[in-house]
Amino acid sequence: GMDQKVDNLLTLMTIDEKIGQTIMYNGTWEFTGPVSGDNQWKAEKIKNGQVGAMLNVLTADEIRRTQELAVNNSRLGIPMVFAYDVIHGYKTMLPVPLAQAASWDPEVARLGSEVAAREASAAGLHWTFAPMIDISRDARWGRIMESPGEDPYLASIMAKAWVEGYQGDDLSSPTTIAACAKHFAGYGFAEAGRDYNTVEVSMQTLYNVILPPFKAASDAGVATFMNGFNDLNGVPATGNEFLQRDILKGEWNYDGMMVSDWGSIPEMIFHGYAKDTAQAAAMAMIAGSDMDMEGRVYEKGLKEKIQQGEVSEDLLDDAVRRILKLKFKLGLFDDPYRYSDAQREKEELLSAESLAAARDAARKSIVLLKNESSILPLQKEINSIAVIGQLAAHKDIPLGSWRAQAVPNSAVSLLEGIKGAVTKDTKVAFAKGYTLTTGHRSFGRELTIVEEDKSGFTEAVNLAKSSDVVVLAMGEDCYQSGEGRSQIDVGLKGSQIDLLNELKKVNDNIVVVLMTGRPVAIPEIAADANAILEAWFGGSEAGNAIADVLFGDYNPSGKLPVSFPYHTGQEPLYYSQKSTGRPINRAENVFWTHYTDGPNDALFPFGYGLSYTSFNYENFKVSKEEESISISVDVTNSGDMDGEEVVQLYIQDVAASLVRPIKELKGFEKVWFAAGETKAIKFMLSKDELSFYNEMGELVFEPGEFRISVGSNSRDLNTQSITLN
Ligand code: IFM
Repeated sequence: GMDQKVDNLLTLMTIDEKIGQTIMYNGTWEFTGPVSGDNQWKAEKIKNGQVGAMLNVLTADEIRRTQELAVNNSRLGIPMVFAYDVIHGYKTMLPVPLAQAASWDPEVARLGSEVAAREASAAGLHWTFAPMIDISRDARWGRIMESPGEDPYLASIMAKAWVEGYQGDDLSSPTTIAACAKHFAGYGFAEAGRDYNTVEVSMQTLYNVILPPFKAASDAGVATFMNGFNDLNGVPATGNEFLQRDILKGEWNYDGMMVSDWGSIPEMIFHGYAKDTAQAAAMAMIAGSDMDMEGRVYEKGLKEKIQQGEVSEDLLDDAVRRILKLKFKLGLFDDPYRYSDAQREKEELLSAESLAAARDAARKSIVLLKNESSILPLQKEINSIAVIGQLAAHKDIPLGSWRAQAVPNSAVSLLEGIKGAVTKDTKVAFAKGYTLTTGHRSFGRELTIVEEDKSGFTEAVNLAKSSDVVVLAMGEDCYQSGEGRSQIDVGLKGSQIDLLNELKKVNDNIVVVLMTGRPVAIPEIAADANAILEAWFGGSEAGNAIADVLFGDYNPSGKLPVSFPYHTGQEPLYYSQKSTGRPINRAENVFWTHYTDGPNDALFPFGYGLSYTSFNYENFKVSKEEESISISVDVTNSGDMDGEEVVQLYIQDVAASLVRPIKELKGFEKVWFAAGETKAIKFMLSKDELSFYNEMGELVFEPGEFRISVGSNSRDLNTQSITLN
């Protein structure tokens, strides 16, 4: 079998060739074209069999040519594996991952990554650095947009679906690609929400909150893992033996491959953890980092450390086995060019089918946060609509951050979406209102946020005055979130709130469409807008998807995967808080946990989201069934429109050997109901699901009282107690 083939190959390899397999280099487009600087020496190394993988080499042709350098020139002709950050689409942009999580629909995630894999593989790629499954509870952290949000249960369901979408059931199929569960582990808990900052968490938080989605990805057969830039309790993730060897490759018996994050091996020197590059290389290899992404230290330090006996060659062999196995699974030893089909690349990208999937995913990701007097859905025959705000006409921002090869300015704007939906007699007019950004659209550059621009207010106010309804787009530039894009303030920037205040004076029908990559603090909008849709960064079809919801062609069904705060000062904010000795409902004196100048709770809680119809919960029953708890509730669509509801199940372990959260999500079901229809929804909770991890990382079940809650979001719940021994 495959293991035998890998072992046979390994016996043929010199130590330099083995180290070569652990090296991943960055290559830009036209890598084999006019050679310049880095590309020249990298090409030489590839020909010498000293490179195992490349990232950022693009297009079927270019990847074929780069692959030829290795296959035709190196002694053993071992093919390289080609990777790229295909995070929410390659050319067709799906909604950003946080938005996909808001669908609470694993099929949205699965199909989205299937589309991404189909396009990326057609463009010659073998491997994506996704899904990112870092739990994040801090809206300040820019990469929250790339995460499944704050909850380990929801994130685990999404993690599995993303992996299945990218990888399908056969990695060697030329339409699937290898996935990568990242960043292992703790990266989303960066202190103060500042990207790359230190992480300090207890073992119980690590095991109960951070690890579950990674365990789910591992169980789903994710082909690779990536470690992270952060230190975890004083040990950089990249050099962390406890995480990579004890937990992942030990306890979980994971047999896939671990890649470092970009340069994270030598960054252990900046962490003050390794004293030089050779030591960094040794530490990373000992800890279980199999591949060095652009750190350029395995080729320098590893051989010497092995020869000095500081690193066992067995560890190197283990790393190389994992890398070669990935290449076998991808089918690269059968045909190193199996993904390089320029004809398929031409046909596959931006297909009608992919765009339809993107539109459906985007509308299922939209969350209705407010709908006063059922102002939504709007009638398509309405006389006049004022579409206001720079974001409403923007064709680039909805593509989001981490947009791979999306064509700049290729998204359907909200304005275009609305124009396409209404009848021909409806007057749709646009006013820019505010200017939020004139920023650069590429990674790593500073944005220019326009703080005080009111020059467009008069035009916008006049338009609002003469229109039946105002659709006001508000939110963020897509590069306010993403890697390295943390913020100290998660309120809306520029003059957006001032504009809302002015419009409110002249029009009573204001629908706000939010485009954001993070939870935002929007108490003014919650108070003043008549309706609010959180549309995130919806991707290529964003404007059409929003219009589907605005005009009722799709009844919104999304629920927040993250808590929306009143104020940045509440962060980190999450529903699954632990009990305190002075909870706010013991408010007989001033000594309860609270702020003197604002609320404790979220403005919009985790799991929250409205529909154009309404759902009633009745006959909630909780009973013991052998070793488990059985839960049932009758849910009725009590409105006059068909729609979906996400029925949510939470638990509380009332008295335990560790203080437990007041609520923890343990199940959900997204169910479609015809108007008037009632369905009995059932859940079972086993002892395992009622258990938690202690400080030793052991899963323990503790008998006693459990509170079981079901409902429509994490705040509005029906609760019953039951005792399980
Ligand atoms: O995949 C990413 C990672 O998430 C952050 N650093 C760079 C990698 C490759 O682009």
